[in-house]
Amino acid sequence: MLEVIKNRRCIRTYLNKRVEEEKIIEVIKAGMQAPSSKNASPWEFIIVDDSELLEKLSTTHHRSVHVKNAPICIVVLANKDKFIKAGKWIQDLGACTENLLLESVNQGLGACWVGVFPKKKLVNKVRETLNIPENLIPYALIPIGYSEEKNIFIDKFDEDKIHRNKFNI
Ligand SMILES: Cc1cc2nc3c(=O)[nH]c(=O)nc-3n(C[C@H](O)[C@H](O)[C@H](O)COP(=O)(O)O)c2cc1C
Repeated sequence: MLEVIKNRRCIRTYLNKRVEEEKIIEVIKAGMQAPSSKNASPWEFIIVDDSELLEKLSTTHHRSVHVKNAPICIVVLANKDKFIKAGKWIQDLGACTENLLLESVNQGLGACWVGVFPKKKLVNKVRETLNIPENLIPYALIPIGYSEEKNIFIDKFDEDKIHRNKFNI
């Protein structure tokens, strides 16, 4: 298994240290490299590094408080104008978001997936905070930073979740 897959953890504490722009771009490049249905690539990104906006984003819901302590937050958006097959975009954006997390680990950073979509209230809150136009749907917040917390391997393997051929009835 790839080391970044093994070791990736949701990191929720961050050092007060700037993250290099080149690293953020590498992370976003990884997001854009994700597979998507019909290669629609229906994603867009906002890089938020303004402390007032980070503070506002951290109030999105009760599990987003750590966003205010991150030096940077990538807001992952879905672009409705790029939707080709109904509903497939949700899977496309999931693949893209996982790539952002894995490349963050590769860059020596800590990151966390903070859910926004599908709760309308949360989608609207993020939209209002960042003046996001109607054709773009806020999907997730990814706070990223250097951290004292380490990305470490936790074994999640569970043989009971593997099935072969068909279920017996
Ligand atoms: C769709 C989704 C939404 C999530 N939302 C949040 C969230 O709002 N806040 C948070 O702190 N973690 C959130 N997480 C992170 C999970 O809590 C975390 O992945 C899980 O506890 C397993 O820990 P690990 O990522 O370190 O393996 C989310 C993860 C996913 C995939």
